[in-house]
Amino acid sequence: MQNNNARERTAYPQMMNNREKEKYIENYNFPYCDESAKYEKVAKIGQGTFGEVFKAKDRRNSQKFVAMKKVLMDNEKEGFPITALREIRILQLLKHENVVNLIEICRTKATQSNRYRSTFYLVFEFCEHDLAGLLSNVNVKFSLGEIKKVVQQLLNGLYYIHSNKILHRDMKAANVLITKNGVLKLADFGLARAFSTNKSGVPNRFTNRVVTLWYRPPELLLGERNYGPPVDLWGAGCIMAEMWTRSPIMQGNSEQQQLTLISQLCGSITPQVWPNVDTLELYRTMELPQQQKRKVKERLKPYMKDPYACDLLDKLLVLDPSKRADADTALNHDFFWTDPMPCDLGKMLASHTTSMFEFLAPPRRSTQMRHHSLPRPTTSTVQDGGYIDRVF
Ligand SMILES: Nc1ncnc2c1ncn2[C@@H]1O[C@H](COP(=O)(O)OP(=O)(O)O)[C@@H](O)[C@H]1O
Ligand SMILES: [Mg+2]
Repeated sequence: MQNNNARERTAYPQMMNNREKEKYIENYNFPYCDESAKYEKVAKIGQGTFGEVFKAKDRRNSQKFVAMKKVLMDNEKEGFPITALREIRILQLLKHENVVNLIEICRTKATQSNRYRSTFYLVFEFCEHDLAGLLSNVNVKFSLGEIKKVVQQLLNGLYYIHSNKILHRDMKAANVLITKNGVLKLADFGLARAFSTNKSGVPNRFTNRVVTLWYRPPELLLGERNYGPPVDLWGAGCIMAEMWTRSPIMQGNSEQQQLTLISQLCGSITPQVWPNVDTLELYRTMELPQQQKRKVKERLKPYMKDPYACDLLDKLLVLDPSKRADADTALNHDFFWTDPMPCDLGKMLASHTTSMFEFLAPPRRSTQMRHHSLPRPTTSTVQDGGYIDRVF
């Protein structure tokens, strides 16, 4: 039976008509979820797979800047995307100097013009640069001590998240932020997940379709689903090398080619160097180059020069994940404890007054390293195999 009593209808929302519901939503003050209008967008700084990122100013404090990451709702018929919920839950758990700080979640007002569907934003403390942006700018020059500081902070962040049983699963230079004071923050937990070491003996069955191809470790490329923290340390190794080469060291354009490039740098993938690799799902499906010598140190030495740096990289880019250095072992490496010691980046960054982000940078130039000759930057070359080798 229809209830026509207006007072009763306001008291019991389930009896509101549509217009009343809309008004109710419009005026409702969601607790713990402020309106995004408290920030004023200044510039677009990122366009990821999962949405746009803006630099914005706090309207109540013009000195305070934030980064607002839009939650993409396109694929949602209703409700809040589970992937964004996961990212938020993980970010709420992680509080560390070297992990990006999530301040709050904001929403736009639900109005008739957006058909009563709010847009949600993850609001982060603003960091001036990302590492991909910095590396693509030839005017930004890192000293050895400064590189050590970057890599040390990267490993500190990984040590912390792995201790908290979180895998990042998307390590790459664009997901590493650097504040103007030179503090590094791991960012983009959009693919992150919790893990537990399977004490029960039941192997994990995580998806292996994670990590940007160029930073993807061999175990994922071979179909491993029972993986762990070593996936992030492979990425850390790729990023470490990039501090000198200035462009990603293995730029495959397919999973097959990525495995080929890995084999050419790290040596053939065989059960001799990696026991039981032949039990991985794709071991027989993929073409794995044989008789490849390991050349990590040899090929990176012309760039890195420092023998400690080469040695640490050699321990990160290890094919067998169970033998790859973990964050703790890497942090204890002599690289960080010999002269020049890690040194603050603040001073060097102070000479660069504009923000540097991958999104705003021109496409990064690739370099090619020739064997046994001095490295020099060149543009992409097409190799015999017909594919573009943009590795060094
Ligand atoms: N807190 C922040 N401060 C400054 N820039 C940021 C911040 N968070 C993200 N960005 C920029 O936006 C880009 C995309 O953000 P990210 O979290 O990586 O989202 P996506 O999942 O879309 O890649 C980053 O590569 C970085 O350049
Ligand atoms: Mg990203």
